[in-house]
Amino acid sequence: MNILGIETSCDETSAAVVRDGRQVLSSIVHSQIAAHRPYGGVVPEIASRQHVEHLPEVLAEAVRGAGLEWSQLDALAVTYGPGLASSLLVGLAAAKGLALRLERPLIGIHHMEAHLYSAFLGPKAPAWESVMPCLALIVSGGHTLLLNVEAPGRYRLIGQTVDDAAGEAFDKGASLLGLGYPGGPAIDRAAREGGNPGAVLFPRGFPRKLHARFADDVDPNACFSFSGIKTALLYHLRKYPPGRDGNPAVADLAASYQEAIVDTLVTRTLTALGRNETLVVAGGVSLNRRLRELLAAAAAARGFRLLLAEPAYCTDNAAMVAGLAAHKQSPTLAESLALDACPSVEFG
Ligand code: KG4
Ligand code: ZN
Repeated sequence: MNILGIETSCDETSAAVVRDGRQVLSSIVHSQIAAHRPYGGVVPEIASRQHVEHLPEVLAEAVRGAGLEWSQLDALAVTYGPGLASSLLVGLAAAKGLALRLERPLIGIHHMEAHLYSAFLGPKAPAWESVMPCLALIVSGGHTLLLNVEAPGRYRLIGQTVDDAAGEAFDKGASLLGLGYPGGPAIDRAAREGGNPGAVLFPRGFPRKLHARFADDVDPNACFSFSGIKTALLYHLRKYPPGRDGNPAVADLAASYQEAIVDTLVTRTLTALGRNETLVVAGGVSLNRRLRELLAAAAAARGFRLLLAEPAYCTDNAAMVAGLAAHKQSPTLAESLALDACPSVEFG
């Protein structure tokens, strides 16, 4: 079963061919970082224009790279949401065109479920049903979710951010520190280059009341708030400009800021873990070295199994879309063509 996956929910134009849900035959990601960098963040119009320009070549490369003919594809899969509407629509239009032309089913995939599945791609990863039930932390630029994963396709959302996502906090913090875009890797690097994580104690936002707007089974102890930390950094920078009068340097602030985000993620996750034997961690922020370090130490100390997505599958990619699609039912052609973009679809 060879599935061609397409992912265009934000600023990566990606296509991949995955065999039987696990074997990644090709995974092509065209990053748009250079196009958005001058603006300090993703510009939706530029993102969709870039998808239109690059998707045809990315698709052709994915099929060529897999060593297949188009006719050897058994199904197509595409991210239908959540994401930027104008970006999702480019991938969806291309996927529907291919479904019609090749007469193959088109499977719609939820972006956050695909991030979860990214931990089960590749030869070293276990089969996903073998680790369930488990807890999953999905941390990206747009989401911060804690899910009880009961079985494939059966998820219970137990916690999420009440305001900014963890990746967003990294990106905004890096921008305030003048470290450039994207912020997560820049802060990670600055922190590793000698920054002192204990230089400044930034707040570990605790959303006791704010969680009330979520469903009943969302636990306030498993929720996050990352907007206060960015304001704390802003005020700190105004009051104590780095490098002046013995104030903490930029690397110290980066390390301290990262420590607050990572500490918050780890503490809430470990509280939510309960008796789960496995913790799955995925999404762009799961590339963070300090997060990986603290989670690995906790896994060793508490004796749970830590399952991290391979670095190549942490940030947005189509392999996770094509892989997950192997576990979904094939729709009819009419159902395939009726698939629509859902920019803000919930999960869990
Ligand atoms: O999963 P992803 O590619 O896209 C979304 O679905 O949002 O995640 C992108 C996010 C960005 O906010 C980026 O700054 C963050 O992941 N990120 C990191 C690191 N690498 C990427 N955050 C912290 N440390 C990193 N090493
Ligand atoms: Zn993503």
